[in-house]
Amino acid sequence: MTLAARIARLAPSPTLTLSATAKAMAAEGIDLVDFSTGEPAGDTPDHIKQAAIDALAAGHTKYTPVAGIPELKQAIIDTFARDQGLHFDPADILVSCGAKHSLYLAAQALLDPGDQVIIPSPYWVSYPDIVRLAGGAPIILPITAANGGTLDPDHLAAALTPRTKALILNSPCNPTGAIIPADTLDAIAHLARRHPLTIITDDIYRRLVYDHTPCPSLATLAPDLADHTLIINGVSKTYAMTGWRIGYAAGPRDVIAAMTAIQSQSTSNPTSIAQHAALAALRSGPEFTAALVRHLDTNRRTLVHALNTIPGITCPLPAGAFYAWPDITPLLGTTHPRGRIHTAADLAAHLLRDHHLATIPGDPFGSPHHLRLTYTPAHDIIDKGITRLRQAIKALT
Ligand SMILES: Cc1ncc(COP(=O)(O)O)c(C=O)c1O
Repeated sequence: MTLAARIARLAPSPTLTLSATAKAMAAEGIDLVDFSTGEPAGDTPDHIKQAAIDALAAGHTKYTPVAGIPELKQAIIDTFARDQGLHFDPADILVSCGAKHSLYLAAQALLDPGDQVIIPSPYWVSYPDIVRLAGGAPIILPITAANGGTLDPDHLAAALTPRTKALILNSPCNPTGAIIPADTLDAIAHLARRHPLTIITDDIYRRLVYDHTPCPSLATLAPDLADHTLIINGVSKTYAMTGWRIGYAAGPRDVIAAMTAIQSQSTSNPTSIAQHAALAALRSGPEFTAALVRHLDTNRRTLVHALNTIPGITCPLPAGAFYAWPDITPLLGTTHPRGRIHTAADLAAHLLRDHHLATIPGDPFGSPHHLRLTYTPAHDIIDKGITRLRQAIKALT
């Protein structure tokens, strides 16, 4: 059978593939330490589960409005107003099947063939594929320690072309945890006022920040760009609801209407029961997320401190999200009994196969010199993983 040409432009999500391998190994009874997943380790809070059970019992089992049930849209509007001082109407909001789906719909709604989308690197693995699937061209803009570990507005200005359609911002960033500072956002806004540009701001980790570090938002700093700013968020990470598949977009009404039309012809609506659960999540008090952040903060410090004591590894303390992003450059070129480590992918494969430690190589995030380690597991698992990593690295020659 001949597949559509767009399939040739698509790579299956490498993080989901690796996490599936890790879960399969654990299911076989292998004592695996899993630092690969992109989700909180704990279960969805009980009051959110109960809301889903109540929704089932109340018969909320039918199609819903395409863009989401009105109560959930209102809870999203209230959340934006409370957390970011942003004001939206229901027509500015689309609820979809996860933030990833919102990003997919945005790309489908905005991009014509050849339209360029600037993606600062390191980037979340799915951005380039989502852009390519829509016929767009991802333009990768490297961020290095030399530009302070954040997006350099001068580099961004140099990357703009007549074909540039959009810029994707992700703060805090998966995989680095970096938060884009306000002065950088101001400079980006300055550029966006002179160049027609849609700014897609993926804020999925914005509630998961440490040390009370402010997480400024372009939408708040540059309200005059509201017609060019699309915010993506969701409940997956903040409320341990990755499996429920509820995300949302807020922004220009014409873009939201276009995304809604695509949703109407694809998924019809996000699952009715999950929407009621998301409603309970957004209406919850701050306790669950505050406890999650405290747990993650302890793990973050433990893991990053330990990583920096392993020869060949250096790791900055991430400001947000739940990933450590160690630089493993000095380990490239070393060997283990079965072969040589040329890239982070080789190291991750060795750690998984020979030490039963699942990590994600930096290659699909734009860097073959890094690993990504999720620090959501329980403290004892973090300690066990560090011990395995230390032994594995010590044995390299
Ligand atoms: C940066 C980023 N955006 C979006 C998503 C997707 O989130 P959701 O589960 O809501 O689709 C992820 C998930 O890993 C992510 O890391």
